[in-house]
Amino acid sequence: MIPWSKADFGRAEKIAARRVINSGWLTQGKETEKFEEELANYLGVKHVVLVSNGTSALMAALIAHNIGHSDEVIVPSFTFIATINSIIGVGAKPVLADCDIKTWNLSPEEAQKYISKKTKAIMPVDIAGMPIDMEGFRKLCKDYKLALIEDCAEAMGAEHVGGKVGSFGHTSIFSFHWAKVVTSIEGGCVAINDKKIATTIRFTRNLGRTELYNPKKHGAHYPFDAYGLNFRTNDVFSAIGRVQLSKINRYLKHRKRLVNYYKKRLKSHFEFQEVPDYVRRHANMFFAILAPGNKRNKIMKSLFNANISSRITFPPTHLNRWHRKLFQASRLKNTEELGKRILSIPLGNKITISQIETVISALKKALK
Ligand SMILES: Cc1ncc(COP(=O)(O)O)c(C=O)c1O
Repeated sequence: MIPWSKADFGRAEKIAARRVINSGWLTQGKETEKFEEELANYLGVKHVVLVSNGTSALMAALIAHNIGHSDEVIVPSFTFIATINSIIGVGAKPVLADCDIKTWNLSPEEAQKYISKKTKAIMPVDIAGMPIDMEGFRKLCKDYKLALIEDCAEAMGAEHVGGKVGSFGHTSIFSFHWAKVVTSIEGGCVAINDKKIATTIRFTRNLGRTELYNPKKHGAHYPFDAYGLNFRTNDVFSAIGRVQLSKINRYLKHRKRLVNYYKKRLKSHFEFQEVPDYVRRHANMFFAILAPGNKRNKIMKSLFNANISSRITFPPTHLNRWHRKLFQASRLKNTEELGKRILSIPLGNKITISQIETVISALKKALK
């Protein structure tokens, strides 16, 4: 089977994991601090806080921005379910907006339509690792005094002409899940310049513990002086993440090569995500085609029969069985069109050109 994604997980990652296991300190500690420092240096941001995954990074960011009951957060329906569930998880209301039919990202103009007195934040998503319209969103959030929480879970390494995604100082979250450009098996982080919010996120990830318990100092009072959950990561994952981050340039180059190969050979058969001029580097976390007419499901079946994995990234959240009841009134034309036509095909740090050749032949055959 040609997998949808394949991580590059080899000797260096195993050595790093073994080193931590042999050290006897496996939970969140020095390796995590080092990974945080290296990420902050790589991104060019003041603070990085590592957490258990991208979903908990989103929730911690929302909690740190004091977003909860009776608050609204504007978010695209065309995203991975975690973006929207994190808002529901903190008790706030996700207000779903449509995506742009060409770039597949939420635009500031579309988000602006949904701003109300209850809006506290906008949460745009860098779909497939393509930077959002940074200037537009920063201006919109400044004008309306809203928090900008960027879900760049898929965009590690991506660059806007103004700088790296995650370097702009507003709250940005990343995921290190297995299929991402850089993986720590599971993991996530928040990147931010604001020290106060970074500190709150540190408390939030550790059940609201504001200091290490010291019996002499604290006596019977445990220092749980904030609200929090267990969003901690561990040093084994962080050690693996550090090795992966050191290889990011190679991964980004490889992914770009595969995507260019796909595009060159498939351009007369399918449409792709359009890349605006402000994008200096796409992270290519996944690659998707838009099938013509109503052929998507037939193509997906043919790929499956040819032992090739593919995925729908993403089915519209407002039409999802569980979420439908929450968003009954939503009619999001572009999101629904993409939901019918999109198909994400194999791409990853260990996917090869020869595997991609096989996918291309199978796609062409499926169209006949
Ligand atoms: C856009 C987006 N947001 C959030 C997440 C959640 O990240 P995680 O799977 O690490 O919880 C993902 C990851 O899959 C994602 O693609």
